[in-house]
Amino acid sequence: MEGKKICVTGAGGYIASWLVKLLLSKGYKINGTVRDPDNEKNDHLKKFDMASENLQLFKADVLNYGELFEAIQGCEGVFHVASPVPGFKLVPNPEALLSAEHQNGAILLILHNHQCQKGSLGDPVEVSPCDLEVTALSHGSSSLLQKCKTDMITPALTGTLNVLKACSEVGIKRVLLVSSSVTILRNSSWPKDRVMDESCWSEEHLLRETKHWYGLSKTLAERAAWEYSKKTGLNLVTVCPSMVYGPLLQSTVNATSLMLLDIIKGTSEPMVDKLWHFVDVRDVADALLLVYETAEASGRYICAAHPSYLHEIITKLKSIYPNYKYQQNFTEFGPEYRLSSEKLKTLGWKARPLEETLVDSVEFFRQAGLLEEVAA
Ligand SMILES: NC(=O)c1ccc[n+]([C@@H]2O[C@H](COP(=O)([O-])OP(=O)(O)OC[C@H]3O[C@@H](n4cnc5c(N)ncnc54)[C@H](OP(=O)(O)O)[C@@H]3O)[C@@H](O)[C@H]2O)c1
Repeated sequence: MEGKKICVTGAGGYIASWLVKLLLSKGYKINGTVRDPDNEKNDHLKKFDMASENLQLFKADVLNYGELFEAIQGCEGVFHVASPVPGFKLVPNPEALLSAEHQNGAILLILHNHQCQKGSLGDPVEVSPCDLEVTALSHGSSSLLQKCKTDMITPALTGTLNVLKACSEVGIKRVLLVSSSVTILRNSSWPKDRVMDESCWSEEHLLRETKHWYGLSKTLAERAAWEYSKKTGLNLVTVCPSMVYGPLLQSTVNATSLMLLDIIKGTSEPMVDKLWHFVDVRDVADALLLVYETAEASGRYICAAHPSYLHEIITKLKSIYPNYKYQQNFTEFGPEYRLSSEKLKTLGWKARPLEETLVDSVEFFRQAGLLEEVAA
């Protein structure tokens, strides 16, 4: 694959940055799309080894077909990574919060709770953090919720179809779509005692009913991608990572890393002590390249490594770093499913130990000044 040109969408994001770094180290030439090439948050990309020779940044919003086409033209393959990723917090109904925050004149920052149930705080709902402050000031609450849906679902779904259409037009050999395990995990008819594999799909009605807009955005996007590939013959593979942790390459902190920071620092809001499947961001980048490069790879690939409850993660972290506050307030979650990455492992994928991911994450946060120790 030495010297082959590929496009990576959303190149400056958390997972995409590790992917770009890996691809450069393997000799690929990259057209990376970012929404603002001049924004300093993308500067880290320019500092990667071989970036000055082999990385070209293109300004492209996934909702702008022409911009995408420019970046994809001349490439052999595409990694479509860009998609809005919200935060994860248990909050009361944001409509109630909205008016309370308005009265206080405070900045409104609500991040959604991921797949949580009705709890003592009321009915938690998901909202996108995008432009929330501005939205809160200028919109009514129902339009706020509408905007949240639009901000997440449209870029995921329309963005994916734009990418695929450009790929067809250009004659791209293979497209790898970064999907998510959330497109698998919400299925009410899957047998409770059976490990979930790639044949399982989240049910759209369930995602709608639970206002899981992120899950819905990813599920609609991946489903549409498969339909498009079936119709046109475009060579598509998808990878569905679970919860991704590990050190960051970019200067801004992404949503899942913010959640880990919250776990370590502790927050006053309860967190759902559900079974997460953690996977290291560097192992995700490896998986993406492996699936892309393996000619016989086909279909979907779950990329999930370590099933663990949050309280287990905290126990592990505390044994290594006793001097943080840690989250103490939890709510419970219903029956949990386990995910299998056997299909990915048959291609040769291996995941590093969870301890290594946790230690590297904490060391990164410490060096970045994002953690304050408390007296033991
Ligand atoms: N982190 C996880 O645990 C996890 C797990 C499973 C799947 N995933 C998937 O992995 C991918 C990357 O996520 P991440 O964790 O690396 O999050 P991230 O750092 O927030 O990256 C998301 C990227 O999407 C870009 N983006 C969002 N809306 C866009 C638009 N309209 N046009 C162009 N670019 C847009 C963002 O660009 P800007 O910088 O311009 O905002 C950013 O580069 C996503 O598809 C996500 O669903 C993540």
